[in-house]
Amino acid sequence: MNAPFDKNRNNAATSPKFLSVWEIEAYYGESYIVQNVSFDIHEGEILALLGRNGAGKTSTLRAIARLDNPELKHGEIWLDHQPLHQMKSHQAAAAGIALVPEDRRIIAGLTVEENLQLAQIAPPIGWSLDRIYDLFPRLRERRKQEGVTLSGGEQQMLAIARALARDIKVLLLDEPYEGLAPVIVQEIAKTLNIIRDQGITTVIVEQNAVAALKLADRAVILDTGTVVFDGSAQQVLDDEKLRAEYLAI
Ligand SMILES: Nc1ncnc2c1ncn2[C@@H]1O[C@H](COP(=O)(O)OP(=O)(O)O)[C@@H](O)[C@H]1O
Ligand SMILES: [Mg+2]
Repeated sequence: MNAPFDKNRNNAATSPKFLSVWEIEAYYGESYIVQNVSFDIHEGEILALLGRNGAGKTSTLRAIARLDNPELKHGEIWLDHQPLHQMKSHQAAAAGIALVPEDRRIIAGLTVEENLQLAQIAPPIGWSLDRIYDLFPRLRERRKQEGVTLSGGEQQMLAIARALARDIKVLLLDEPYEGLAPVIVQEIAKTLNIIRDQGITTVIVEQNAVAALKLADRAVILDTGTVVFDGSAQQVLDDEKLRAEYLAI
């Protein structure tokens, strides 16, 4: 099955896009928030989705994960030839989309290991606990500890680990570095590189744009709900004017 937008794009036949967001428009009630946003990601790429506070980054991630709010009223989202735009959130999750929200949602009263086991309570099951602990040795050390008592960085690792515990294709990260010390940011970035090498495609939304750009292959910048830049991460790092205008860095 070919996505209908393929005919409008160069190289679509020779270079299939893994995740395609095409002209999506999403609303909170009457508020038009995601305004005709399009971008593509190749399999195994890391894409930084950037922009000022309120630009529509979280709303775009939520639309891709097919959460009810904002409501997707127009456009298409294809994951590996599957029409996410026709799905509910649980179906998008089963298709391989994992959203790690800004607040991480570690479940209180459960240990690290129980948080991971809960993610594996039903198929499709992803990485084994051993494989997860090899990637996150700190989580192995703390596996009997209550998840919510971990440090911020460890909770972020647990939130990412919990996504990997399911069989996923795309990891959507909403401000994973928020509130974390630079050394922890580096540690998580290293882990995200390893996750990429294992074939998982990642979209990272970050206020810490420089850290996200150093990790990412490509960048999309949003401003008031529309795409104002789509190109390589290095291009943004090199373009002071672009950064000043849309990222305030
Ligand atoms: N639940 C909501 N109801 C109404 N408006 C919202 C809601 N969440 C976000 N918005 C508005 O949508 C716009 C984009 O928000 P958001 O996607 O959270 O931006 P970002 O993640 O880039 O900071 C903002 O103007 C914000 O006020
Ligand atoms: Mg946000």
